[in-house]
Amino acid sequence: MSQWTDRRLLDLLGIDLPIIQAPMAGATDSAMVIAASRAGALGSLPCAMLSPEQIRHEVQVIRSATHNPLNLNFFCHQLHPVDAERETRWKHALQPYYRELGADFNAPTPVSSRAPFDETACQLVEELRPEVVSFHFGLPEPALLARVKASGAQVLSSASNVDEALWLEERGCDAIIAMGYEAGGHRAIFLSEDLNSQVGTLALVPQVVDAVKVPVIAAGGIGDARGIVAALALGASAAQLGTAYLFTPEAKISAAHHKALRSAKDSQTALTNVFTGRPARSIINRVIRELGPVSPLAPAFPRAGGALLPLRAKDEADFSNLWSGQALRLGVEKPAYELTLSLAEQALAQLHRR
Ligand SMILES: Cc1cc2nc3c(=O)[nH]c(=O)nc-3n(C[C@H](O)[C@H](O)[C@H](O)COP(=O)(O)O)c2cc1C
Repeated sequence: MSQWTDRRLLDLLGIDLPIIQAPMAGATDSAMVIAASRAGALGSLPCAMLSPEQIRHEVQVIRSATHNPLNLNFFCHQLHPVDAERETRWKHALQPYYRELGADFNAPTPVSSRAPFDETACQLVEELRPEVVSFHFGLPEPALLARVKASGAQVLSSASNVDEALWLEERGCDAIIAMGYEAGGHRAIFLSEDLNSQVGTLALVPQVVDAVKVPVIAAGGIGDARGIVAALALGASAAQLGTAYLFTPEAKISAAHHKALRSAKDSQTALTNVFTGRPARSIINRVIRELGPVSPLAPAFPRAGGALLPLRAKDEADFSNLWSGQALRLGVEKPAYELTLSLAEQALAQLHRR
């Protein structure tokens, strides 16, 4: 398919389709990456919840299945010192649920695992040489970023408003993901903590396109070919889709998450910090309704999640994060390869009908 008029990102990353299968920590493994990549999209492996050995293994599996470009995705949040008093208050807020579900309140609180990009991750990038590295929550420290770029990787990161996009461009990002308010999972937000600074995709994408010189990737609420065509019309060079890929059999999500995605309405997601301490869009469940959506008690990212783990083990539907974007009703159950091809074919058909 060579009929795409804006080839900036396609040529930069060496991909055939202006589609990025979004990295989704906890939901994406090599199977989804391989399927999307074989279809011509950019396959993205989320690394924030994987150990170095797991990353190495997943990359090996992907490389043995396809030689197409690969995106490794990392978080680069600042780790805050542990605030013991806040952690205690948070656990006490959860105590009634521990009692109700018969979870052991006095057992040590498990630690939630989401690691920021560090020396070990940087060495992995240098070893594994992905063609693309994408970051969430800003960028790593300059020395590490310089090494990622020196490895030959194209660097992407997500911006949730124009200030963040300019900040990323100034520091050398090769393309910017404009992540609208509608998006599922964690907000990219990193220059402030004010959720009023978050802009919807339709408003965000053209303003970012006007502000930066590098190619822009639209993300958030893009659930089908119409969304891709709209993103391209707004000046984006590609679209990154997350929630749409949660409906594929390759998505590694719980039965409860699966069920919620299929039954929730567009009006039933919220930005919440109760699962990790950072704002993220999830389908609304009991813990969000009763303690959130935004709780001042939740410890800083990613520690809020630890105290929820024993509850989640008892009741996945009510106590686990059910990440989803607002376009969930557009989801269709198709394997990731077929989904990617049909999105591209339908988008091209719509573009050429104009
Ligand atoms: C389940 C889930 C997990 C996610 N995890 C990550 C992640 O690990 N890294 C990241 O950069 N973005 C993550 N995101 C954001 C997606 O990469 C993408 O930007 C977003 O899903 C786009 O919006 P949409 O869900 O409306 O398509 C996640 C999103 C979801 C739904």
